[in-house]
Amino acid sequence: MDVLVFGSAIVDFISYANRLPKAGETLHGDKFSTGFGGKGANQCVAAARLGAKTAIITKLGEDLWGANYLEQLQSENVNVDFVQKCQGQTTGIAQICVADSGENHIVIVVGANNLLSSEDVKQAKKLFETAKILVCQFETPLNATLAALQAFKGISILNTAPARKNTPSEYIKAATILCLNETEAALTTGMDKVTTLSQAKEAMEHLLEMGANNVIITLGALGAVYVRSDEPEMFIHVSAFAVDKVVDTTGAGDAFIGALAYNLAQYPDLPWHQLIGAANQVAAYSVMHPGTQTSFPKANEIQKVAVYAWSEI
Ligand code: RIB
Ligand code: NA
Repeated sequence: MDVLVFGSAIVDFISYANRLPKAGETLHGDKFSTGFGGKGANQCVAAARLGAKTAIITKLGEDLWGANYLEQLQSENVNVDFVQKCQGQTTGIAQICVADSGENHIVIVVGANNLLSSEDVKQAKKLFETAKILVCQFETPLNATLAALQAFKGISILNTAPARKNTPSEYIKAATILCLNETEAALTTGMDKVTTLSQAKEAMEHLLEMGANNVIITLGALGAVYVRSDEPEMFIHVSAFAVDKVVDTTGAGDAFIGALAYNLAQYPDLPWHQLIGAANQVAAYSVMHPGTQTSFPKANEIQKVAVYAWSEI
């Protein structure tokens, strides 16, 4: 097993409109689609599409959405031995609005995902013992997520999404790699904002002080930055991969994490600027295509050999 995901599966209801509505406003949209989403499942599918052997531990409702989702995961070659349909629960649902600019806003009701518990970690002991990489997010109950991180002995990635204020330091310490976007980095460190490279460097310094081991912050069009525990003085910026036209940014962060997990499992000895550059390329692809999982590339749709620009901050 390359990549094990302990995380959410959610069905996305996506409306496309020329801009995002203001509070209290009703807007005419021009297109609607449903898709398979949820940060956990998205990250798992992103890794699977690239060729990783994956498994997900998640919970679905006993409804039509849950049945469809199970089939979807199977068709993506994801191991679903620990995907459970829960009686009396609804499958997680996300209401997503995407503007012409590619920006979005999202409301999630995670439904059955709320039932994930430390018991599920125990049940899936075999997967925890054999997987190379574990990936977790914050769409699942916090105590269960911590139990998953603490049970795992390989490389764990914690994607602190969606953003939370005052993330307890146990979580920050428990993951091998903490992966945040600009908003999450600001909320976690208490900084006003994290948009420039120097702010990102400051945020990484904070996170190291808070006990983080290795940190990656994604910065949208600016690419990503990272710092490693074995070189805590070295802050590296990896430039974004070129995007022709932004179509839909939904799921770009998940594409990044899934690709990172795949590359870490496959090429553990590559320098991180290379791994992160490759993940940026996959995220860029997803931004140029509509939807969440529908926008993730297969291995043959991306450049296998590419040069990624990087420099010290
Ligand atoms: O990161 C994008 C995802 O966030 C969507 O698929 C939606 O389900 C929400 O979980
Ligand atoms: Na997309």
